[in-house]
Amino acid sequence: KKLFAVIGDPIAHSMSPVMHNDLFQAYEIDAYYQPLHVKREDLEVAIKGLKAIGIAGFNVTVPHKEAIIPLLDELDPLAKSIGAVNTVVNENGKLIGFNTDGSGYVRGLLEELPSLQDKKVLVIGAGGAARGIYFTMAQAGVVQLDISNRTVSKANVIVSECPFDVQSEVLNMDEAEKNLGQYDLIIQTTLAGMAPNIQELPISIQHLKAGSFVSDIIYNPLETTFLQEAKKNGADIQNGLNMFVFQGALAFEKWTGIFPDTKRMRKIVLSQLG
Ligand code: ATR
Repeated sequence: KKLFAVIGDPIAHSMSPVMHNDLFQAYEIDAYYQPLHVKREDLEVAIKGLKAIGIAGFNVTVPHKEAIIPLLDELDPLAKSIGAVNTVVNENGKLIGFNTDGSGYVRGLLEELPSLQDKKVLVIGAGGAARGIYFTMAQAGVVQLDISNRTVSKANVIVSECPFDVQSEVLNMDEAEKNLGQYDLIIQTTLAGMAPNIQELPISIQHLKAGSFVSDIIYNPLETTFLQEAKKNGADIQNGLNMFVFQGALAFEKWTGIFPDTKRMRKIVLSQLG
């Protein structure tokens, strides 16, 4: 039996094991996917251990996505420029790191918005998730890709380090709020509005352009306060479930060569969310 895993801290609530184990069953692959709780200080020894037991591949989640990089044998160029790895493939004993978070986001988005080329886009936030999404959106090619963050300097770093050419402006939150009506697509990547008790929005979301699309990377809750407000203001909305499902599908494809049934994956995750 091939062994796969996800490493993180915390890890108990990860939906990846149930999603991937269901796929292994569905495609009759003799493999098992195990959640592994790995603390920050144990990362190096944990990776050595995984290599020693011949792990076939694994996912990497918070807080290890950046720290794992020097521990790998090879790095995909996009993962290198993003500076974060969420998927590792063991190729004949060599651990190779990839990033399917940003590409998963874009693939999931394309299900709802078939054309990105004509879109003016605003990314809100400048953390690790925003960086992956910004780079892959720039690579996908959009008319304009602006970014706003509470700490503007972090947004400046993302723009200056992006390896793909794109028309872009960095905005503070007040400017972003004032300019919202310009954007066809607004992508919320901060943790604000996540739990029901965090009602604070990163920016207030009024005066949207008619027909605009608002996307949030959070999927638990399925509708953040931010998405609820966007809907009230007439936008079409998308939660983070597609990003999660498609990052998983792209990882599964790297491990098995099969691009799996994403509708099946959605159903499994939704059933777990209750
Ligand atoms: P991740 O790597 O998972 O994206 P992160 O690096 O902690 O997480 O980034 C969190 C993002 O949420 C950042 O853009 C952060 O803004 P700062 O860079 O200014 O810290 C943003 N964020 C968190 N809480 C916020 C709040 N209450 N209002 C606005 N932005 C917030």
